[in-house]
Amino acid sequence: MKKITIAIDGYSSTGKSTIAKQLAKALGYVYVDTGAMYRAVTLYAIRKGFVSETSEHFTKLIAALPSVNLKFVYNEELGFSEMFLNDENVEKEIRTLAVSKLVSKVAAVKEVRTKLVEMQKEMGKEKGVVMDGRDIGSVVFPDAEFKVFMTASPETRAHRRYKELLDKGESVTYEDVLLNVRSRDYIDSNRKESPLIIAKDAIEFDNSDMGLIEQFERMHNYALRIIKG
Ligand code: DC
Repeated sequence: MKKITIAIDGYSSTGKSTIAKQLAKALGYVYVDTGAMYRAVTLYAIRKGFVSETSEHFTKLIAALPSVNLKFVYNEELGFSEMFLNDENVEKEIRTLAVSKLVSKVAAVKEVRTKLVEMQKEMGKEKGVVMDGRDIGSVVFPDAEFKVFMTASPETRAHRRYKELLDKGESVTYEDVLLNVRSRDYIDSNRKESPLIIAKDAIEFDNSDMGLIEQFERMHNYALRIIKG
């Protein structure tokens, strides 16, 4: 069967990674979470003191980029890949609200995007990949055969994210999470470098009121139709 590239873009906490993982599993494709890559660079920048809520030293971050080594390592037990930053498993740390609060700033840095987009193109060059992010259908794989743009209301997304963070034992308020969702939407959509846009040939998918099973079945059918041509 022919292999295609599946690009899943959209706002934060729209469930992109859930659907992308399910699709990759069903099709036997590789799943790449590009948000994890931007989060890992952000964690690096936080640790080095290159970014905080009140300061930005992006010239230093750019100079240090060659020593930021990222890789995904497949965890057989969990059934998905984990993010490694300079050989350290940072999968848990990159999902904290502390990183979420600063990641949009770091993801707006041109040199960071150039480095990560290049890695993403390399990872998907054989096709048979489901990649999720913000600019996959517009910049990384403009020729992807199947492009999806996921949306849901900010409140629905904040509720999902709030629940996830509570389940992980983080002490956060719903208001703080909603604020973060709105502020990331704003920065991601208004930045100069590859802003979050709906690629013109993407299908828009609002899952505010849709269950996971229905969502998966619809996307899977779409993908199969394209694959079978
Ligand atoms: O998908 P996520 O919430 O884990 O992504 C984290 C941040 O990274 C998000 O606020 C925007 C940025 N991002 C990006 O700019 N481009 C991508 N391809 C993926 C993520």
